[in-house]
Amino acid sequence: MANLKLLPPIIFFVIFLSIQSHRASCASLIEQTCKNTPHEALCLQYLKSDPGSSQADITGLALIMVDAMKTTTQQAQAKVQQELKKGHGETEALNACAGTYKTVLEYDVTVAIEALKKGDPKFAEDGANDTVMEVNSCEAAFPSGKSPITQQNNLVRDVAQVAAAIIRNLL
Ligand SMILES: *[C@@H]1O[C@H](CO)[C@@H](O)[C@H](O)[C@H]1NC(C)=O
Repeated sequence: MANLKLLPPIIFFVIFLSIQSHRASCASLIEQTCKNTPHEALCLQYLKSDPGSSQADITGLALIMVDAMKTTTQQAQAKVQQELKKGHGETEALNACAGTYKTVLEYDVTVAIEALKKGDPKFAEDGANDTVMEVNSCEAAFPSGKSPITQQNNLVRDVAQVAAAIIRNLL
């Protein structure tokens, strides 16, 4: 009899555990994916702010991050235009950065999106990697060593590193 008395709480406990683990596995594709990137908080921030992310598979999450590469690059581009208008010098470096962002937007982002949609993640990783290189070259273009767009460049770089890390799950 004692054993039978224990049965309901045991059953309850088993059901409770299975509900918990089900909930964890549903909620955590984003969490799991972001954990394996170099900037977890940034990854969570961008993925969770996209309304489509809760339904997305890893390719979908990679596409959201590539889109973030695009928007952060556009922000950096806008900052460069502001700086050029101020006319405080460093025009050559600023123009070099403007060219860099153009490459990121017209080449890297485009290639990455196409590649992900075609199921060709190697080229997508290439696009994200190249974005990191492009932004680093913009930062290095200022002879004074003081870039007015460091903050924007760092954001693009971090976002691109997260995108590359997500894409590597697909290789
Ligand atoms: C991208 O960069 C990572 C880390 O630096 C490297 O391991 C990987 O081989 C690169 N991928 C491509 C396609 O160049």
